[in-house]
Amino acid sequence: MSKKISIEPAKRVKNLPPYLFALIDQMKEKALAKGVDLIDMSIGDPDIPTPKHIVEAMRKTVKNPANHQYPSYAGMLSFRQAVAEWYKKRFNVTLNPKTEVLSLIGSKEGIGHMPLAFINPGDYVLYTSPGYPVYPVAALFAGGRGYEMPLLEKNNYLPDLDAIPPGVLKKAKLMFINYPNNPTAACADKSFFRKVISFAADNNIMICHDAAYTEMYFEDEKPLSFLQVPGAKNVGIEFHSLSKTYNMTGWRVAFAVGNKDAIAGLGKIKTNIDSGIFQAIQEAGIEALKTDDKILKKLRDTYKKRRDILYKGLTRLGLKANRPEATFYLWVECPSGYSSTEFTTLILNKAGVLTTPGNGFGAPGEGYVRFALTVSAERTQEAVQRIGQIL
Ligand SMILES: Cc1ncc(COP(=O)(O)O)c(C=O)c1O
Repeated sequence: MSKKISIEPAKRVKNLPPYLFALIDQMKEKALAKGVDLIDMSIGDPDIPTPKHIVEAMRKTVKNPANHQYPSYAGMLSFRQAVAEWYKKRFNVTLNPKTEVLSLIGSKEGIGHMPLAFINPGDYVLYTSPGYPVYPVAALFAGGRGYEMPLLEKNNYLPDLDAIPPGVLKKAKLMFINYPNNPTAACADKSFFRKVISFAADNNIMICHDAAYTEMYFEDEKPLSFLQVPGAKNVGIEFHSLSKTYNMTGWRVAFAVGNKDAIAGLGKIKTNIDSGIFQAIQEAGIEALKTDDKILKKLRDTYKKRRDILYKGLTRLGLKANRPEATFYLWVECPSGYSSTEFTTLILNKAGVLTTPGNGFGAPGEGYVRFALTVSAERTQEAVQRIGQIL
């Protein structure tokens, strides 16, 4: 028998912080093993099934042998055309489906690969924090350095671009921003996007706007696409996903749109790493993008009802929370004397309510926890009651 080899993870893997949601899963398993009647408000995964017409489209198209072979790398042209039509209808943004749209196996995949296409060792990737944990990790995987732009309440959770040190700015090549924002639920207006565009042009930084939550809104004013603002296509791209809008997190279908050189660069990485999305999923994705707004309105109303219950409930208990106009997250300040981890642990152990500690999204999230509106109105009400009993 041959000798067992020693398997040593690469330094880039050894240096990784534990993936936030894998840690949350462990907390969840422990609580469930103890028999806790857990109300899980920790992960942004819609609890409502994918609309029937999308599942039906998949059922029909999965039988077609033409869909059983390797898909095209950039995505079926018909899928990219559907994306371009959706952008035109929703945002009045014109996109060339051949050069300005790229299909992704979830926006996480595209975000994770983006720095590989554009970052050289030592280059900086600027990213908002607290934020989606993939931005800094993707920068590290590409040999780059992450620079955290803190999102603070006093700045309406928008980054202060003028506070970035000149030494960082000189070597900065990419910037990740995300509005409506996870986890703070903040929205950006046109003037912020205008500022970002001129900052990017002045400093030669490519903007990657993560727009995963633009369709989860509760007020009359709809969230913006970054590409609606003049000049955006000169400086960057937008990541979008079918995950949250159509309750399709498990399907892994998303897209990047915008600057054609940025799209081509990301496409080149993907061509060498993956082989595109199962065509039957793309066919179902086309059907999803044509969904009647009545169906989506019903979904938004469901989240809105939950938002109102949770916001009113928590503020009545004396907790300070935002009232999200978009996204399905409430960003809640911990009561005085509690850190994010302490408060998360308290409400998990004493109330059986699982939330995400704010510091898990980056140091500026310390002192907050995030609640996701992913349980029914009744369970949301129960979560408020249980927390009320311990506060
Ligand atoms: C801000 C943000 N961006 C991107 C994603 C990734 O979504 P997906 O890979 O399902 O498209 C998520 C998922 O939670 C998210 O919160």
